[in-house]
Amino acid sequence: MSKIHLQIDGRDVDAEEGMTILETARSVGIHVPTLCHHEELEPYGACRICVVEVDAGGRKGLVAACVRPIDQNMVVTTRNEKIDNIRKILVEQFLAHAPDSEVLLGLAEEYGADKDRFEKQSTFCILCGLCVRYCVEVKKKNAIGFYDRGSTREIKFIPELAAKECKDCKGCFPLCPTSYLQAAYHLTEALAFPSTTSVGRGSGHSK
Ligand code: FES
Repeated sequence: MSKIHLQIDGRDVDAEEGMTILETARSVGIHVPTLCHHEELEPYGACRICVVEVDAGGRKGLVAACVRPIDQNMVVTTRNEKIDNIRKILVEQFLAHAPDSEVLLGLAEEYGADKDRFEKQSTFCILCGLCVRYCVEVKKKNAIGFYDRGSTREIKFIPELAAKECKDCKGCFPLCPTSYLQAAYHLTEALAFPSTTSVGRGSGHSK
């Protein structure tokens, strides 16, 4: 694999061909925020919070650092007024869905986002897809998936699979940036397979 030379925030960096901007930035300790990215998963490029500005041979533009591979002599800027403003608006939009997310509130503080800018549509999920992709790519179980499209798109556990696979796994829980996932799981558990919950076990003992 050949070496790629580029500049990130004014620093000269050498990296391997095929690496993304995010991987390269992280390899030299430059922080780029992410929400839908996880090192164990395939790049997804959904949330856009990792937006950076690139100049690649005179072609300038904004790209998602987690999916964009590096190019020879590329010049990358990970933070400026334009980038910060995009991240701020994205965080404001996500907070309309998940106003209590600690991850989002931390980003709001960093980028000066107003958590009440957009009308609340408390779906509690920002559709980062980490849980769905973790279940498919790492656990190979497909116990949780996306349903619907557009404004009604949501994630749901598949009760028959969740009853069998999730009880001793829950590996996706810590990945969720909003805590929606835990609530969705417990709701599915309570409705679809209550006999395995503590409530179910408790009522069994009382008989
Ligand atoms: Fe890059 Fe979500 S972290 S698009």
